[in-house]
Amino acid sequence: MCGIVGYLGEKDTKGILLSGLKELEYRGYDSAGIAVLQKNDFQSYKAVGKLINLEEKTKEFVTDSFAAGIGHTRWATHGKPTELNAHPHLGESSYVVHNGIIENYAQLKKELVAEGVTFLSQTDTEVIVHQFEKNLKSATSAFEAFTKTVSELEGAYAILLVTKSEEKTIFFAKQGSPMLVGINAENEKYFASSDTPLIGQCTDVNYFEDGDYGYVTKDELAIFDITGTKKEPIFQKLSTNKLSAQKDGYRFFMEKEIYEQSTVISDTLLGRLTETEVLFDELDANLFDGIKEIKLCACGTSYHSALTASYMFERHARIKTSVEVASELRYRDPILTTDTLFVVISQSGETADTLETLKMAKKAGLKTLVICNVDNSSMVRLADASILTRAGVEKGVASTKAFATQVTVFWMLSLYLAKAKNTLTSDEITKQIQLLREVPASVQVSDTIHEKIRRLSKRYLNGHGFFFIGRDVFFPLALEGALKLKEISYLHAEGYPSGEMKHGPIALADPGLTTIALLPQHLLYEKSKSNVEELSARDATICAISPLVFDKADDYIPTKEHTDYMLEFFEMMVVVQLLSLEISVRLGNDVDMPRNLAKSVTVE
Ligand code: G6P
Repeated sequence: MCGIVGYLGEKDTKGILLSGLKELEYRGYDSAGIAVLQKNDFQSYKAVGKLINLEEKTKEFVTDSFAAGIGHTRWATHGKPTELNAHPHLGESSYVVHNGIIENYAQLKKELVAEGVTFLSQTDTEVIVHQFEKNLKSATSAFEAFTKTVSELEGAYAILLVTKSEEKTIFFAKQGSPMLVGINAENEKYFASSDTPLIGQCTDVNYFEDGDYGYVTKDELAIFDITGTKKEPIFQKLSTNKLSAQKDGYRFFMEKEIYEQSTVISDTLLGRLTETEVLFDELDANLFDGIKEIKLCACGTSYHSALTASYMFERHARIKTSVEVASELRYRDPILTTDTLFVVISQSGETADTLETLKMAKKAGLKTLVICNVDNSSMVRLADASILTRAGVEKGVASTKAFATQVTVFWMLSLYLAKAKNTLTSDEITKQIQLLREVPASVQVSDTIHEKIRRLSKRYLNGHGFFFIGRDVFFPLALEGALKLKEISYLHAEGYPSGEMKHGPIALADPGLTTIALLPQHLLYEKSKSNVEELSARDATICAISPLVFDKADDYIPTKEHTDYMLEFFEMMVVVQLLSLEISVRLGNDVDMPRNLAKSVTVE
């Protein structure tokens, strides 16, 4: 995920920016840069890869007087991770850094290009600095031009901008992406996209609210709200614990990642939905030409999102879809035909088994697509096309937000295909797009549900096994729930189709067998319910997850009433993630780094 730092003061600006960026390294990035305005002279440096490359480039650069500096670590979303696409972005005499996505960048860019502006990068960010300089021509001050620019942007942003036309000032704006400003007794001003770079530098910080914008000078911190009214900063004392700041105060990275699913799914959707259609600018219109079948291939959690996708592709786009475990596909001499689109799914883009199947498919002449979280990863570089999930760095070994964003992308892709193939009516597509917009709200964790799961978790610390069961898309979710529990609690768990329990596993039913039953209201409720009743009649311990009270259950985790089963899917996903987390915590396990597992398995 991108990171921002800023500094206004007399100390070693370069050093402060670079060490601030270092503190953001844990968030992941693929390029970095800084720009410093000192004695009315701009110096800017950018480098691809690790920060050491940027340090190397700035070795000779000295900052020894009052300066305004901004810095950025970039996690590519629009445009490849190249030096040109790295921030800060330059206009004629201003630089900008930005986190988030400018949704209307294409429109703004078109207008600017028509007016003769040359763009150097493929990023959405670059429009901000050009739009600012365009506005500057007719404005009475840089602040007026900045205010106008901010009002013209749509989407999510945290922005810092420095300009020669108003030296010794940093302009800022925040909408949807986090940013804070810090102060200290020496009258310095620090900015960052999260607490960590400011720890040890500032005593007090103000977290900007959505709609805030303004500027800082040596003596002033001017914040305005969305209506243009000046407001007082609300300062808070800064924490001194870096690790807890990295976890945003959560106990574990996994917990933080579960809680941030709402935000990252919003990022996944950003700029990709209109009222009536799904847009994937990154896909060539002819990618699906001549394609009769889709083959999805992945490992682990990504395999479960692929399974979920297969239901959506067949249901919405009426296209034949098969799903393969990568380590199996590799050695079974599969039939690969060129009318099949080969899709690999991977959080990291580096998993060895999945990567090998991508090579196999390419060799067999198939068109290939990767759904991935890491730009410039091996799979993204190799596949013909890629869709980035925009989940940001996932640190917990047990994947959560990566799965959530993969399923979101697949839902969008199924509608994109449905439109191309005319398999859903435009009313149905419009309705589903509305539902997609409700996903971020459906995964928001309420204190009540988390507390309920925490209390219940003490009942699930032993027993001879867990069956997570569900039907349709809730079957892959059951598999994913069981995988989460296995990974971090080390308890035996299996995911099973509800209707399949009677063909064997029901023989295991006794009070020591726990069934976690996914019972959505809007998909095969009666059928799923009778499957659970069969288990309940054999005295298995049942934990029902459902919006409808189920009286045959020993435990019941209530979910909200939604209008569609996919929203139930996303809410239940959060419930199973939290259940595993709380069981693991009670067992005293290392939640973020479970034994024997690795985040990215690059060996066979
Ligand atoms: C490892 C991880 C899993 C992950 C799988 C696939 O086994 O422990 O959490 O789901 O790899 O990873 P990928 O990066 O390809 O999605």
